[in-house]
Amino acid sequence: MGAQSPALVCTALAACLALTGATHPGFKVRITQAGLNYAREHAVAALEEELSQLRLPDISGDFRVPNVGKVYYELSSLKLRSFHLPDSSIFPVPNVGLQVTISNAFAEVDGDWRVKVYFIRDHGSFDLKVEDLYIRISLTLGSDASGKPTADASDCSTHISNIRIYFSGKFGWLYNLFHSVIESTFRRILESKVCENVLSSVHSELQPYLQTLPVTARIDAMAGIDYSLVAPPAATAQSLDADLKGEFFSLAHHSSVPFPPPPLAFPPDHDRMVYFGASSYFFNTASLVYHAAGALVFELTDSMIPKGLDFHLNTSIFSAFIPQLEKMYPDMLMKLRLSTPAAPFLSIGPEGLSLRPVVDIQAYAILPSSSLAPLFLLNMTGNVSATIDVKSGNIVGNLTVGRLRLSLKHSDVGPFQVRMLQSMMNIFASGILLPRLNDRLKQGFPLPLPDRIQLSNVILQSHQNFLQVGADVRYKRRG
Ligand SMILES: *[C@@H]1O[C@H](CO)[C@@H](O)[C@H](O)[C@H]1NC(C)=O
Ligand SMILES: *[C@@H]1O[C@H](CO)[C@@H](O)[C@H](O)[C@H]1NC(C)=O
Ligand SMILES: *[C@@H]1O[C@H](CO)[C@@H](O)[C@H](O)[C@H]1NC(C)=O
Ligand SMILES: *[C@@H]1O[C@H](CO)[C@@H](O)[C@H](O)[C@H]1NC(C)=O
Repeated sequence: MGAQSPALVCTALAACLALTGATHPGFKVRITQAGLNYAREHAVAALEEELSQLRLPDISGDFRVPNVGKVYYELSSLKLRSFHLPDSSIFPVPNVGLQVTISNAFAEVDGDWRVKVYFIRDHGSFDLKVEDLYIRISLTLGSDASGKPTADASDCSTHISNIRIYFSGKFGWLYNLFHSVIESTFRRILESKVCENVLSSVHSELQPYLQTLPVTARIDAMAGIDYSLVAPPAATAQSLDADLKGEFFSLAHHSSVPFPPPPLAFPPDHDRMVYFGASSYFFNTASLVYHAAGALVFELTDSMIPKGLDFHLNTSIFSAFIPQLEKMYPDMLMKLRLSTPAAPFLSIGPEGLSLRPVVDIQAYAILPSSSLAPLFLLNMTGNVSATIDVKSGNIVGNLTVGRLRLSLKHSDVGPFQVRMLQSMMNIFASGILLPRLNDRLKQGFPLPLPDRIQLSNVILQSHQNFLQVGADVRYKRRG
């Protein structure tokens, strides 16, 4: 009997729904080869700086020279004059991590030498050239308990092809008799020092830098975004991919989301250094949180109507469409309360972003006592299209409403022709409500970027269930 198919088991278990749902990220980040190259440039420049500050230990020992005897030697005050890493490359190793190789590196060291043969002592200076230094570093990437990325150098090896030492001074010739011993000692020391330095740079520079990724970004008084990694970053043949939770949460009470993220499959684009994929899940958790926080309730009063409209929110105006108002509530100001009975959901597809919110409009007459008399409740639906952009590392949005459709859900003032209110409600929606919503969306929501990263050449595309943002990256060095 064969094993049960996992799909079958999953259908049987309700819990699997949650499990399989969790496999899709709400937000995805892809770093392409171009992005890795850019990161490598900066990392190698920083390593070059580190390496040129290397401290080298004194070297001493003895050596038996035929016809001369035992020679005691000491090399001291070793100083690196330069360390250059001219050629380097980086590539992802599928399912492993990243490999960085540095070739043709060269360095120059000078220092003092001292010898003692029997009772004769002498000293001078030397100059050492390291050529064709090769470094190979394997980086493994992971994620810690808080969902921040981590980096570790799992392997480092160096190989120096060539070392040349020039001794000057009266007894310099002595050294030339056993230079190969000194060269191999020096090679061993430098090779291990370079790897030591690489490992400590990964720990003290790269790792803390990756930890600057804001995995929980507070946005305003109501909401934050959870950008924690749901799995360690994965290397593919062409890129490094990270799956993020990509979920808005309420600051007041973290509650679970009643729907799973849909699949998010990046097309094989690679022109830009980095690609972000924001799932419809990401936007819809925002909607859920703001809806639950009561942020999608909007009260419209006469004072909010732009002066230029020459129009008042009062029963005299409305009695043109609902004649009975004139008798029931003569010449009173009105108030409209707009609310969404359910969080509006955004759909994303190749044709763009749109939503079809259902809005309840409750109209009141404001009585002389300033209490409210309910007049009628309308159901308003409409097609809203959204355009999204990226500005200063924020996803910003702008909504445009199409034609609105009204229906009457309830009336306290008897029947009336809802159709007549159509154009007035259109003006309210697109002239008053929308600009306010768009003002908020203009401030945007932050993308998950580590410190000192700026985006440029932004390109946006909408695909089935997600929005893709491609960008080039600029890293601003400190100072
Ligand atoms: C209602 O609107 C009409 C027309 O703009 C205006 O003449 C009237 O003074 C308004 N009444 C109130 C109570 O605001
Ligand atoms: C509101 O209007 C939409 C579209 O016209 C309709 O599908 C929906 O059932 C209405 N809801 C109510 C509660 O009337
Ligand atoms: C909204 O769009 C859908 C399909 O695109 C269409 O069927 C519907 O009539 C539109 N609604 C309004 C109010 O224009
Ligand atoms: C946003 O959309 C409105 C129409 O709803 C348009 O008038 C406005 O120019 C747009 N703003 C931006 C920044 O695109």
